[in-house]
Amino acid sequence: MNWDTGKSQYLSATTRRMTGKAQEETEVPANDGYMLSSGPLVDSLRKIRNLETVGEIRREISSLREERDLLDLPDSAFIAEELRQAYEAYTVERARYYIDRLVKSLTVVREGKINDLNLNRWKELDDLITDSLWILENRDRSGTHNAGYWGNFVPQIPRQLMKRFTKKGDWVLDPFSGSGTTLIESLRLGRNCIGVDLSQDAVDLAARNLEKSENPYGVYAGTTLGDSSLVDFPSMLKSRGAGSVQLVIMHPPYWDIIKFTDNRGDLSNSTSLDAFLNGLGNVAEKCINVLDRGRYLALVIGDKYTGGEWIPLGFRAMSVVQERGMLLKSVIVKNYDATRGKRRQEELWRYRALLGGFYLFKHEYIFLFQKPV
Ligand SMILES: C[S@@+](CC[C@H](N)C(=O)[O-])C[C@H]1O[C@@H](n2cnc3c(N)ncnc32)[C@H](O)[C@@H]1O
Repeated sequence: MNWDTGKSQYLSATTRRMTGKAQEETEVPANDGYMLSSGPLVDSLRKIRNLETVGEIRREISSLREERDLLDLPDSAFIAEELRQAYEAYTVERARYYIDRLVKSLTVVREGKINDLNLNRWKELDDLITDSLWILENRDRSGTHNAGYWGNFVPQIPRQLMKRFTKKGDWVLDPFSGSGTTLIESLRLGRNCIGVDLSQDAVDLAARNLEKSENPYGVYAGTTLGDSSLVDFPSMLKSRGAGSVQLVIMHPPYWDIIKFTDNRGDLSNSTSLDAFLNGLGNVAEKCINVLDRGRYLALVIGDKYTGGEWIPLGFRAMSVVQERGMLLKSVIVKNYDATRGKRRQEELWRYRALLGGFYLFKHEYIFLFQKPV
């Protein structure tokens, strides 16, 4: 049997999109990026689920699995796994449950309010991390991403956040945009992104990176030179055609660990921990003001060791955002790659740790907040 008689039929299949908590369903065409198989397979599955015995169901599933055209479907691996479960069921009720679930996943898109993920196909979302411990082995260096800016973060961080907490066409704000990692990633994922940084070098570098990046969805991504504690975000957004943002990603300096510029407004030049936290709070407040209710803010930051003492910069910064009325949703611990300099001196640092009675930094935090509805 021909399960999928070509792209036009595949695209013209209709599906129901469920929205919101109430899961109200609306009919939408299936040509919005989901891998939906065409009618014949669904028809066969509906017939099989009405069979009376496990034996009959198994026999029909077996012959279905042998259909060569099934293998050509874009989602054949997913379908095969679901069919396996139905085949191995011991009761008719269980087999019907698996078949109904497969039919639903092929015909109904259950989309989240704040992302484009189809929760009826959640098993296929295996690139998304759902644990609070993130071990990211290798930096993504594909496309225009590179590790050239000292203090940048790995692209996997903004990618994970944008996929889970934004939809295509949403607006993302990065008030410490540096070399533009978030911006490059936003182009790839079809999200609009506004970046601000007070380092001219960083803004120029980000602009060069963006110029070389592809923009397959035709969205906006750009950085502006400025101090994020002073910028008029509502006007900036308005001038780019946005009224508010749907995600904020903050990756500030880890106080004075890396000095970025000589500018007095640069948070890395803060003369005390309190001054740093105060400056960070000002930026957070401005970002929260333009963030939609129910939407997310992520703060990426690490700790610091100074004067023989571990300074819990991360948790102090987390409190600063919490105090501004944001709900803490997750504390994510991410492995931290030692800087090149430290890597060369690994043995020396190990010796220092043993001598000094402390542990070497191998992690940083991603604090995830939601603006109350
Ligand atoms: C940790 S880096 C961000 C790196 C960025 N995520 C990337 O991947 O390239 C922090 C950035 O904040 C900038 N910065 C510091 N204080 C600032 C302020 N008050 N307003 C805007 N940017 C600031 C620094 O110039 C630096 O580029």
